[in-house]
Amino acid sequence: MNHSAARSLMKSLIGGGNYGRHVTSGLRAVAPFDASAAAAGYQSQGLSMVLIRWGRMMSTAPESSSPTSVVVGKDEKRDGAVATEKGGGGGAVVVSSYWGVSRPKITREDGTEWPWNCFMPWETYQADVSIDLSKHHVPKTFADKVAYRTVKLLRMPTDLFFKRRYGCRAMMLETVAAVPGMVGGMLLHLRSLRKFQQSGGWIKALLEEAENERMHLMTMVELVQPKWYERFLVLTVQGVFFNAFFTLYLLSPKLAHRVVGYLEEEAIHSYTEYLKDIDDGKIENVRAPAIAIDYWRLPKDATLKDVITVIRADEAHHRDVNHFASDIHFQGKELRDAPAPVGYH
Ligand SMILES: [Fe+2]
Ligand SMILES: [Fe+2]
Repeated sequence: MNHSAARSLMKSLIGGGNYGRHVTSGLRAVAPFDASAAAAGYQSQGLSMVLIRWGRMMSTAPESSSPTSVVVGKDEKRDGAVATEKGGGGGAVVVSSYWGVSRPKITREDGTEWPWNCFMPWETYQADVSIDLSKHHVPKTFADKVAYRTVKLLRMPTDLFFKRRYGCRAMMLETVAAVPGMVGGMLLHLRSLRKFQQSGGWIKALLEEAENERMHLMTMVELVQPKWYERFLVLTVQGVFFNAFFTLYLLSPKLAHRVVGYLEEEAIHSYTEYLKDIDDGKIENVRAPAIAIDYWRLPKDATLKDVITVIRADEAHHRDVNHFASDIHFQGKELRDAPAPVGYH
């Protein structure tokens, strides 16, 4: 592999070229690309179609059918959803071939155009923030104690590395948090195929968890931009963690789910500390990113504190799901023997 090939491989693995850190908005994702210049370029070449899928450059950006949607005034910049509606022009999606499948026009309940392709209105929800945050599974068996100690051990280097930089911490740890649900869901999927058996809804429940965690990440990355070495760290950690968790799940799903249950308990603790720092004024309570407002059906004037509050509630739900899954295994049963908590938020 020559030098430039190695460079481009590394770039594709760690992503984008914008390594700065800044608080940003829902429209940050379009910044590295000069939309109007590109469109003009294509037109000057006599092409009738501009083959640019703006929103798909980054899944967190409002995904619009029209390039004009990215041209907004400063005041509008924060709310990508609103900005996109202005230039939406529904149904004007340009597809790149005969096989292109255009999305039907989707609107919010208030009739405004839905700006996201990465999630749909029926996947949004209002988090149940009344959930008990203090619930803890007391480790009794040997396996429980191993899971608990492992998580406490993993917490130490993260405390040392991030200290009280909770925005950065959350963004980085969400890259890990979204792995277990995907691994568990994938392995249950394969098991279902191998054994010609229903999964009892657990495939869906675990994949929902993975998606929900990924949405936490898509939200956090609107607020904190990873530096190049953090991207590199994520790459390394993902390689190690995915394989470690995959192996653990194959060997002992009950231990794997217990570990995740305890990881979620730690996540609740971290987000509680994050909220304390917002309340104390140590972290600015900025306005919520547009993606978060739509995903959690938050009010238009929602703030970072509202976002962290609903994310913390999500973590409490993941805690319950994973301790429940582990308990099923501890009772000598399979997950499919108990109805899965699909849609448990
Ligand atoms: Fe999360
Ligand atoms: Fe979680």
